[in-house]
Amino acid sequence: MKHIFLAVSGASGSIYASKAAAFLKSCSDVKLHITISPAGRKIFLHELGQAALDEMLSDVEYLHDYDDMASSVASGSFPLAGAAIIPCSLSSAMSIAAGLANNLSLRVAQVALKEKLPLVLLIRETPLDAIHLENLALLSRSGAVIMPASPQFYSKPSSIDDLASETAGRALKYLGIEVPDLFHWG
Ligand SMILES: Cc1cc2nc3c(=O)[nH]c(=O)nc-3n(C[C@H](O)[C@H](O)[C@H](O)COP(=O)(O)O)c2cc1C
Repeated sequence: MKHIFLAVSGASGSIYASKAAAFLKSCSDVKLHITISPAGRKIFLHELGQAALDEMLSDVEYLHDYDDMASSVASGSFPLAGAAIIPCSLSSAMSIAAGLANNLSLRVAQVALKEKLPLVLLIRETPLDAIHLENLALLSRSGAVIMPASPQFYSKPSSIDDLASETAGRALKYLGIEVPDLFHWG
């Protein structure tokens, strides 16, 4: 069983979180942990609505309070397989780069980096300035996968749903999750 931590932060792109959570819940070998930031909740409700939020959080085995620093996953001793922040705000990404860990999402990211576990940051912001770019480079050197939420179109997606599934699926690939329906060129 793989314990996977999914944090939802306050960037646009709640649909990516919804797709990632749905897929992880369908994996028989995954124990899913979720937390959502206050900003993440607000934006999720704005973009997808209460029913979609309830759906994402339903049947999640480990639903963690964003402020619960005593949570199991907050410790490096927890057998975590990997973590992702989907979508990842630049506020969260910059905080991780600065070594801050004053909420559960940041703490798990910090633990993933120090324990050399897979960490995927599906960042969503544009344009990026030098502060962002330099800190994202630092995070990349520290082992994080920096994945801009910039979908591809060569799979010829027929809907926003398809587009989001493909991007979320690609992010999960970096956590060692086998995502069967990803598009392969050629
Ligand atoms: C409607 C809305 C959309 C936002 N979209 C983004 C975004 O795409 N990327 C980003 O970095 N911040 C975005 N923000 C700002 C973040 O929500 C804000 O920096 C917040 O403090 C992030 O907190 P968190 O990382 O703890 O979730 C948005 C805010 C609002 C209100």
